[in-house]
Amino acid sequence: MDKAQPLRLKGLEISPPLFLAPMAGLTHSALRRLILEQGGIGLLSTEMLSAGRLPSENPHLSPYLVRSAQESPLSYQLLVSRVEEVAPAIAKLHALGAEAIDLNLGCPAPTVRRMGAGSRLMEEPVTVQALVAAARKLTDLPLTAKIRLGETLDEEKLRNFCLMLEGEGVDLLSVHARLRGEPFVRKPRWPWVGKVKGWLSIPVIANGGIFSVDDARNCLAQSGADGLMIGRAAAIRPWIFAELAHQVYGLGPEVGAVNKPALYHRFVELLEESFLPERRLGRLKEFTHYFATNYPFGHHFASAVQSSSSLDQAKERACAFFAKSEPVVEGR
Ligand SMILES: Cc1cc2nc3c(=O)[nH]c(=O)nc-3n(C[C@H](O)[C@H](O)[C@H](O)COP(=O)(O)O)c2cc1C
Repeated sequence: MDKAQPLRLKGLEISPPLFLAPMAGLTHSALRRLILEQGGIGLLSTEMLSAGRLPSENPHLSPYLVRSAQESPLSYQLLVSRVEEVAPAIAKLHALGAEAIDLNLGCPAPTVRRMGAGSRLMEEPVTVQALVAAARKLTDLPLTAKIRLGETLDEEKLRNFCLMLEGEGVDLLSVHARLRGEPFVRKPRWPWVGKVKGWLSIPVIANGGIFSVDDARNCLAQSGADGLMIGRAAAIRPWIFAELAHQVYGLGPEVGAVNKPALYHRFVELLEESFLPERRLGRLKEFTHYFATNYPFGHHFASAVQSSSSLDQAKERACAFFAKSEPVVEGR
């Protein structure tokens, strides 16, 4: 087992090198606090934030910006495609106390691509160069970028793109090891993260398809990555960071038994603390879609919550499911 080498990005120490992936509708204050309570996280993240809308968002009311003091260190991910949006967005992130800023260069969603943002930007290196240069001039915070592997497996194109990011001052690159059009069911291409790592001297973080300690070990063996970024598994097994911290990086205590119903109820409580009433149920449904996969008959659980018309009804249905599905405490 390796002892983790802390990653240092400008003034920020990230230890263990375990990153929460930005996920729209999921990586909000409540999930971040749930993960923090479990331990093992190195760097938290917001979901992608539209650079155009960000300056006018109210940080106390916007569900995208609500944050409690303990959520630290927290990286804010920008969805940006126009250079003129960079300065107001970064000024706002400074005012919000961002501890790192990430640029979304990998989102394949058609709506995002139509805005010329996300993965569309990997086809526009000149624009990206201008965006990164503008951001770099305006912030001393760690500036990171998140990419996919591109449209097709094109080593030279990917290498030039990554070297350009490094050359413009990006401090860390996370790589979702799939091509733009590849669905989640496809096995991630972890060795390609290793190629990227070989080209760069900044830290390279592997992302995609890590759901367990075995996945993490395989990914590290195949990629040699400087750290791991976890997406969906953070909503399925919010204790995965603690597990990886201990078993992969030799940091933090061994993870004992988890009480999944208690963890689910705690998440509901955190939703209630973080969000206005009308914002809670949608976020519970989104989380439950992933969390329910812990159970053999989880689809019953997920659809019972999906069809609930109030938070109270969803809670009652969750209780009913837990009551008949398993003992309260089980090994992880
Ligand atoms: C519901 C959902 C929302 C996502 N939203 C974002 C996002 O806002 N920004 C981003 O860069 N990637 C986003 N992603 C991609 C994840 O960050 C990550 O790259 C992907 O899920 C692969 O990692 P995983 O296999 O650990 O889930 C999203 C993924 C999911 C499932």
